[in-house]
Amino acid sequence: MPPSERVFSGVQPTGKLHLGNYVGALSQWAANQDDYENVFCVVDLHALTIPEAIDPKVLRAKNREVAALYVAAGIDPDSATIFLQSQVPQHAELAWVLNCVTPLGWLERMTQFKAKSGTTESIGTGLLDYPVLMAADILLYDTNFVPVGDDQRQHIELTRDVALRFNHMFGDTFVIPEPLIRSSGARIMGFDDPTQKMSKSIGEQKGTHSVGLLDPPDTIRKIIMRAATDSGRDVHFDTAAPGVLNLLSIYEVLTGEKRADIEARFDGQGYGVLKRTVADAVIAALEPLQARYAELTADPATIEEILRRGAERAAPIAERTMERVRAATGLG
Ligand code: TRP
Repeated sequence: MPPSERVFSGVQPTGKLHLGNYVGALSQWAANQDDYENVFCVVDLHALTIPEAIDPKVLRAKNREVAALYVAAGIDPDSATIFLQSQVPQHAELAWVLNCVTPLGWLERMTQFKAKSGTTESIGTGLLDYPVLMAADILLYDTNFVPVGDDQRQHIELTRDVALRFNHMFGDTFVIPEPLIRSSGARIMGFDDPTQKMSKSIGEQKGTHSVGLLDPPDTIRKIIMRAATDSGRDVHFDTAAPGVLNLLSIYEVLTGEKRADIEARFDGQGYGVLKRTVADAVIAALEPLQARYAELTADPATIEEILRRGAERAAPIAERTMERVRAATGLG
């Protein structure tokens, strides 16, 4: 029997996709793909929320790069639906309807909005509205589970609240989704500053911050050898300094080794050995991904075809949901 529960997730095609995106998102999507029916979106409408950062040529290329990275990370494009958000106009349509049932205060309270809006002088309305578009993404596909990093928890909560409110006002229309957040390794921190989550935008600006999924091995090694640690020798998960704990956690999620074994392996060795071993593990993990990426993108028509097929599969599902929404609200 084909799996009946549906997973939906997405990545915004801006900045540099990094190790944290692989560990927290792509590798998980790939590992669990046989248990669900999968829809993976490249959310390019979300990318427009920072218009001053957008160059049309770059966005077009990033869209293809992110889609190819989904496949390179192991997601099977024959069974999963991989598509660009902007190619299914129902996302924008549903976002408008959901706008009209979402209290402004819910959006003003979102921590990511507060953080992002603090850093630019003039902010677009789209930045405030970002979580409503994300709710539309998820609700359009009657999604049961949304596998995301820990930082997206509040957005999924909002999606549930908006869906419940709509269902209450207009009758049962939306499936209420659940987040799927992995317990260990959900938060990979920046190599330059282990108090800050590894970020696509910081990684774009600062070469020492993150390991990009397409970085060559010698770059990966250089970045990890320069990772910020303390001046001690503590390699215990419970007591190590944040930078060391970050390296230990990366090693743990990539190798699947037990904590006690990892602590024994690095005990008394000094951080040089730890960094070198972690770099080896990261390079080994990304090698097959990079090889598949090179193969896949050798002919640009391959990814165009995957995206075309993806949009063709996504659109009828999205349209069926919109028909329910129009009927429930009296639109059309
Ligand atoms: N906000 C998500 C992020 O930054 C990206 C996203 C947009 C998303 N729409 C989504 C993730 C729907 C999951 C489901 O990672």
